[in-house]
Amino acid sequence: MINWARAANRKTSPEPQTQSTDGSKPILTVSGVERSFPFTGAGGQLHVLKGIDMALYPLQLVMLKGRSGSGKTTLLNLLGGLDQPNKGEIIFLDQPFHKAGDDKRTQIRRKEIGFIFQSYALMPLLSAWENVELALRMAGVPRSQWKQRVTHCLELVGLSKRMHHRPFELSGGEQQRVAIAKAIAHKPCLLLADEPTAELDSQMGAQVMSVFRDIITTEQVTICMTTHDPTIMEVADHVFEMVDGKFASK
Ligand SMILES: Nc1ncnc2c1ncn2[C@@H]1O[C@H](COP(=O)(O)OP(=O)(O)OP(=O)(O)O)[C@@H](O)[C@H]1O
Ligand SMILES: [Mg+2]
Repeated sequence: MINWARAANRKTSPEPQTQSTDGSKPILTVSGVERSFPFTGAGGQLHVLKGIDMALYPLQLVMLKGRSGSGKTTLLNLLGGLDQPNKGEIIFLDQPFHKAGDDKRTQIRRKEIGFIFQSYALMPLLSAWENVELALRMAGVPRSQWKQRVTHCLELVGLSKRMHHRPFELSGGEQQRVAIAKAIAHKPCLLLADEPTAELDSQMGAQVMSVFRDIITTEQVTICMTTHDPTIMEVADHVFEMVDGKFASK
């Protein structure tokens, strides 16, 4: 069922899609999404997202920008099913994420979504190889496929020569590339990245973006990421700007 996206919607063309006009179906649609948080103690509500509409199409590289505290991470968490909206709809691969229970969302997420964080989130005592292998184990990928898949993913991010290094023996850019290998290992169709280049210098940030561009084609993945960096935004297919809980109109 979920695999319709791979079967029908993933294109073999290296061209990223920037709009829906070619007839392709979005992998994810967000309509009228609102998210509020209760003020601790005071009884009021902090309205962070006030009506978000967006769609992600196959093989897009989409970026979210906006001032600190504008709600980018909040939205990314909703897109990945880590959190649910107070109002509105989120449809991911034809499944209503806004209505699905925790178990259902976890099941879909494990199979179809990969996450990358600013701080890499690697297991410090495990090597690059073992970190990627752990992701496969968590996703329930059969053990017989691990060796081939770990090798492939670490090659994709240019780390064949660093496979047995542990995180503290790697540079920031290398650690982030292990995190990318880890996030794509189970072949998700959506990669969500929260400020993946924020802790990197501009050269390492550019390397990460180049890896993102490569994996969109080779792994047939859609990427949605947040960033504050205008140089990084230049390589996006589409940039959404968050202003006062909504997207600014272009
Ligand atoms: N679980 C929560 N409970 C209460 N308030 C929250 C929660 N999560 C986020 N917020 C509030 O929502 C607002 C948006 O936070 P969010 O982390 O989404 O911002 P952001 O755009 O990612 O900012 P940054 O660029 O600094 O990462 C903030 O004011 C934050 O305090
Ligand atoms: Mg954030």
